[in-house]
Amino acid sequence: MKILVFGGSFDPIHQGHVSLLRRAIKIIAPDATHIVPAYHSPFKAKSPTPFRLRMQMARQAFAGLGKNLIFDDYELRQGGKTYTYQLIQYLQKRYVKPEIYLLVGTDCLNDLHNWKNPQVIFKNATVVAGKRKGYQERPARFNHLFLPGFFPKLSSSRVRAHILACGDIPDTVPVQVVNTIRQHNLYGLNIHRWLKARLKPNRYIHSQKVADMAAVLADIYDVNVEDAVLAAILHDAGKGFTGPELVRFCRTHKIKVPFFEDMCRQEPSLLHSFVSAWLAQHEFRVRKPEVLQAIAEHTLGSLQMSVLSKILFVADISSKDRKYKDAFLIRNMAAEDLDKALLYAANRKLLFTIDSQKWLCPLGIDLWNHLIKQAK
Ligand SMILES: [Fe+2]
Ligand SMILES: [Fe+2]
Repeated sequence: MKILVFGGSFDPIHQGHVSLLRRAIKIIAPDATHIVPAYHSPFKAKSPTPFRLRMQMARQAFAGLGKNLIFDDYELRQGGKTYTYQLIQYLQKRYVKPEIYLLVGTDCLNDLHNWKNPQVIFKNATVVAGKRKGYQERPARFNHLFLPGFFPKLSSSRVRAHILACGDIPDTVPVQVVNTIRQHNLYGLNIHRWLKARLKPNRYIHSQKVADMAAVLADIYDVNVEDAVLAAILHDAGKGFTGPELVRFCRTHKIKVPFFEDMCRQEPSLLHSFVSAWLAQHEFRVRKPEVLQAIAEHTLGSLQMSVLSKILFVADISSKDRKYKDAFLIRNMAAEDLDKALLYAANRKLLFTIDSQKWLCPLGIDLWNHLIKQAK
C-alpha cells in the first residue's frame, strides 16, 4: 500500500504547498495521503495560529486534490514536540507493510540528515521533494525522488510578513484559505483594523511604507523579517493621540520615559514612540524585547541600538511616502551602509527640529554625539 505523507506548519498554506502536493499525488498515485499539520515543530517556535485553524486551512486548500486524503491530527494527539521519525513509525503501525513516501520542500532536503533519528526515516520511507529553480543538488544519503518540473519559491513566513506589512492577502494564498484568514483576523489583520480605525489615512499609509522598507532592509542585514515588519507597522500606533492624551496615557500606565517632564512641557508628541511600544506589548501581546525596544527608540534613538532599531529609525525617516529631498538619498544609502544612513537620518532629524524652532531632546543630542564618535 502506497502512503504519501505531507507534514508542515501550514501557517498559512500557500500555492507552493498546493502545487507540490498535487504533483506528488499525480506521480506517486498513493492509496492514502496523510496531511499532518505540525502541532509544535521541533525546529520552530510554537505557532500562535491555533492548530484547529491551520487544520481548517489545510482542509480548504487540499480538499480537491484527490481521493483518500486523511487530514490527520496525529501531532495534536501527541501533544508536545513531534519528530518525523515518530510519524513514520506511527504510519508503519497503522498500515500493513506500507510503502511510505515523505513529501518535503527542497528547503529542508539538504538538512534531512540532521533531523532526529534520520536512519528511521531513510530506512522506512522514500523522501519526495520538488525542486525550486536554482536548486543545487547534492549527493543524497537516502532514498529520494524528485518530482518533475520546478516549484515556486514561496514561504509561509513571507506570506505572513506580506499580510502584516500591507494588511492584504497575497495571490499566493489559495482563495479558499483567504476567508479563514480574514474571518479570524490572522497574521496581523487585527493590527491593521485597529490602526485604520485610529490613525489618519496618511499616517496609516506611512506605517505600511515603513513596514515595506523595513522588510527590504531586514533581508539585506539578516534580521528576522517578521520582527522588522511587526516593529514597523506598530511604530506609530500612538500617533492617534493628541499631545495631552499622550501625557495622560503615560501617567495612567506609568510608562517610563527619559526626560518625561521636559517632554510633557516642550514636545509631548515625542511620547508617541513610548506609547506605541506600550500598545504593542499590551494591546497586541508583542513579547520580543528587541521589537518593543525598536518601537520605543524609533524617534530619538539610543546609544545601544540593535540592527533592528537602526532599520526602523532609518526606514521611518526615508520610507517611500517621505517627500523631502534627502529621503531618496537616505533610502538608497540604507541599502548600502546602514550606519551611514543612520548618521544622515539623525542629522536630518536634528536640523529639522532646529529649523522648526523646537526643543531638542537630550536623547537626540546624545545619539548624534555617539554616532559622530563612532564614525571617526
Ligand atoms: Fe513616529
Ligand atoms: Fe513614523
